[in-house]
Amino acid sequence: MKIQLLSDLHLETETFEPLPAAGAEVLVLAGDIDTSWRSFELFRGWPVPVLVVPGNHEFDRRDVEAARGDLRRHVQALGLRLLDDEAVVLADAQGRRVRFLGSTRWSDFDVFGPAQRERAKRAGGYFQKVMQSTRHGEVFDVVAVRELALECRAWLAGELARGEAGPGWDATVAVTHFAPSLKSADPRYGRQPGTASFCNDDEALMPGARLWLHGHLHCRHDYRVAGTRVVSNARGHVRKGEANGFDGLRTWEVFAD
Ligand SMILES: [Fe+2]
Ligand SMILES: [Fe+2]
Repeated sequence: MKIQLLSDLHLETETFEPLPAAGAEVLVLAGDIDTSWRSFELFRGWPVPVLVVPGNHEFDRRDVEAARGDLRRHVQALGLRLLDDEAVVLADAQGRRVRFLGSTRWSDFDVFGPAQRERAKRAGGYFQKVMQSTRHGEVFDVVAVRELALECRAWLAGELARGEAGPGWDATVAVTHFAPSLKSADPRYGRQPGTASFCNDDEALMPGARLWLHGHLHCRHDYRVAGTRVVSNARGHVRKGEANGFDGLRTWEVFAD
């Protein structure tokens, strides 16, 4: 199954016209598509199924819990499928079934280990202030982000423990907005306490997935952790040079080897 992957288009300020990639059998949108949600309209009538995993910016200046339901209704009305701690199985042209596990995954601030958690949370406080969101009527702060992150991790861990292949699927693809490994840290900034707001350490979960797609860091990645291929195809902001070298028409084959 050939996957087209796009994330971090940031169409609330960026200009970009997404086009279907030749041969792609599914389009995965791995978050930060448009803070205003208006640009999801661009994917209406897309020739192949479109899977949407919410990014953090889809929740800017909103109540996170209310927005999860609203975003689902919004994208469903356009014929897209939201994967918010949810699984879906799609078959390719050869009848091979791929299980997609989608989760925003938020940051648990433990990527440098629990001893560094408080330091990582202090660094993450800045991003939560900028976000101006609430959850259950309270400020959506780093404590709330971690709470949600652990819910996502528990859900992912349970699903991935069912096996890379299993009853009803021949392969598993995990899709998260936040990165599953420190190896995805943006080389421009290196590894610092703020990196914990971008990367989690989910390498222990990786044996359950053949491919792990993510976004959030505004750079591209394609590397392996044992048998799992980790890929990001984030676009980012043109004014920062992040879109240099970005190819929105690339595809990745699930059954490549
Ligand atoms: Fe982004
Ligand atoms: Fe993001």
